[in-house]
Amino acid sequence: MNVEIKEDYPQLCAAVAEQVIASVTAKPDALICIAGGDTPLGVFEALVNASNAGRVDFSHASFIGLDEWLGLGRSDKGSCREMIWHHFFDKLTLRDEQICFFDGLTHDPQAECLRVDAFIAAHQQIDIIVLGIGMNGHIGFNEPGVSPDKSCHVVDLDAITQAVSVKYFGKPLNIKQGISLGIKTIRAAKRIILMASGEKKSTIVAKTLQAEIGTEIPATLVKDHPSITLMIDRAASSQL
Ligand code: GLP
Repeated sequence: MNVEIKEDYPQLCAAVAEQVIASVTAKPDALICIAGGDTPLGVFEALVNASNAGRVDFSHASFIGLDEWLGLGRSDKGSCREMIWHHFFDKLTLRDEQICFFDGLTHDPQAECLRVDAFIAAHQQIDIIVLGIGMNGHIGFNEPGVSPDKSCHVVDLDAITQAVSVKYFGKPLNIKQGISLGIKTIRAAKRIILMASGEKKSTIVAKTLQAEIGTEIPATLVKDHPSITLMIDRAASSQL
């Protein structure tokens, strides 16, 4: 796995955004997946700025969601949908059919999984996926112990994920399940960027790099992908 270390968060986000721009420049109808959560917020900003400046054209591209909390919708602060629309999709001019995102309010999560799988299949593959990494090493909602063979699936959230979730919602919401692209789907992407920022991620970043590939730290399950780069800032690299 290639590792790129940038001096700070703005430089990291600018560099990750350039990876997305390069994918869309090479393939204007690229299928793009960018994680929710705090880590990519600066990437969204950089991409919106690039779009406004005419440096990238998303009009032929498509976007697929990575994961969502089951039971939360767009009006729920801290849902993946709320965050991504607020910071990214609402700031671009996109048509509805360009976006496929998990509906966390669905009464039929299995049907949601099939719908999302079908959208990816219709586009053949995800061209670039930008992943964050959870404090427990999860990618998307692929929690420790996950099967590497899964496509989209419903997940029982790990205790660490449930505890960390308060930072998005501002209060405990007792969300116990999520819905996520699986490791098999993620590994099928053409290009993977695994992104981490800040001192708080330095332990899991070091563990991910040092550990053998295995389900205990789900991020290790993509380490041997043919086109993956771990992109981190100096603070996240402090235990390497
Ligand atoms: C969250 C999200 C993931 C995200 C990861 C890291 O639970 N569901 O998509 O990549 O965990 O989040 P953050 O970037 O906020 O640290």
